[in-house]
Amino acid sequence: MAPSMSDVIHFTAVIPAAGIGSRLLPATKAIPKELLPIVDTPAIQYLVDEIVASGISRIVFITAKGKEAIIDHFDSAPDLEALLAGRNKLDLLEKVTAPTHMAEYVAVRQERPLGLGHAVLMAKKVVGDTPFAVLLPDDLIDAKRPALRQLMDVYEARHPHGVLALMEVPDEDVSKYGIVAGHMLDDRVMEITGIVEKPSIEAAPSHFAVIGRYVLHPDTFLHLERIPRGAGGEIQLTDALAELVRTGKTLLGCLFEGRRHDTGDVFGYLEANIHYAMKHPDLARKLRASLPEWLEEPTL
Ligand code: G1P
Repeated sequence: MAPSMSDVIHFTAVIPAAGIGSRLLPATKAIPKELLPIVDTPAIQYLVDEIVASGISRIVFITAKGKEAIIDHFDSAPDLEALLAGRNKLDLLEKVTAPTHMAEYVAVRQERPLGLGHAVLMAKKVVGDTPFAVLLPDDLIDAKRPALRQLMDVYEARHPHGVLALMEVPDEDVSKYGIVAGHMLDDRVMEITGIVEKPSIEAAPSHFAVIGRYVLHPDTFLHLERIPRGAGGEIQLTDALAELVRTGKTLLGCLFEGRRHDTGDVFGYLEANIHYAMKHPDLARKLRASLPEWLEEPTL
C-alpha cells in the first residue's frame, strides 16, 4: 500500500563540518577539509548528493570560524555565473549553479570545539521534533542505493530510536571508531545492545564499527544535553546513543552495502580520488595507462 501523507517522515540532514582536519594538515590550514576536491568536486558535495538522492531536501551545516567557504559553495556566485554565461560556458555554469538549487540549506556556527555530540546538538532548534540524519563528511560511501537511504529504509520499516551505519573492521582499526555490541535480526540489521567510543581492542565488544551515517529520533537531543563530557573531554554522540540503549530504547545497526572511504586520512583521500576518477571513462582510461608506470618508478 502506498504511504499516506501523514506516514511520510520529513527528515532533516545534519552535516557536522566544524572539525579542523588535523590529519590532512597542512592542506587544511586555510581550506576547510570538506572542500578538498575528490576528482573535481568538493568532498562535501558528494554528501549533499547522497542526501538529496535519499529523498531529503533540508540540510543543516554545523560550521566554525574559518569555514565560511563551505556555505559559499552552496550559495549563488553572481559574478562567476555572469562571467561563465558571458563566455557561453554553459556546462560549467550548470555545474556551478546546480548545488544552490538542490536543497534548502541552513548554517549554524559551533562556537567552541566541544566534540561531535555538541556539534549535533547545535542543530536541535532547526531540526525540531522530527527524525533527522547525521552524515560525517570524512566518510564517503559509494553505493547503488545511497547508504543514507538504506538506513532510512530500516528506520521507516522498524520505527526504532535510531539506525547507525555499521562496517566490520580489523583489530588494528577498532580503537578509531564507535564499536557496538548486539545481535543480528536479519542479514543486514543488528539490534544494538551497547556502544562504546574508541575502545582498546581488549575492551571492544565486537569488530562492528559505526561509520558516519546515522538516522536518529529527536529524543537523541535530550540525551546529548544531559551526558557529561566523555573521551577526549568532548561531548560524544556515541555516549548519548549508549544512554538511549540503557534507557531501553531500540537502536539498530545497518550493515550497509557500498564502498566507504575515509577521506579525512591521507591514504583514504588518495584512494577516494582514484575510486571516483575510475568512474569517469576518460580519466579511467588515462589512469589505466599511466598508473602502472608510476607505481614501478615512484621517484624522479
Ligand atoms: C566519529 C565518531 C565515531 C565513529 C566515526 C566514524 O569519530 O565519534 O564513533 O565511529 O566518526 O567515522 P571521528 O572519526 O570523528 O574521530
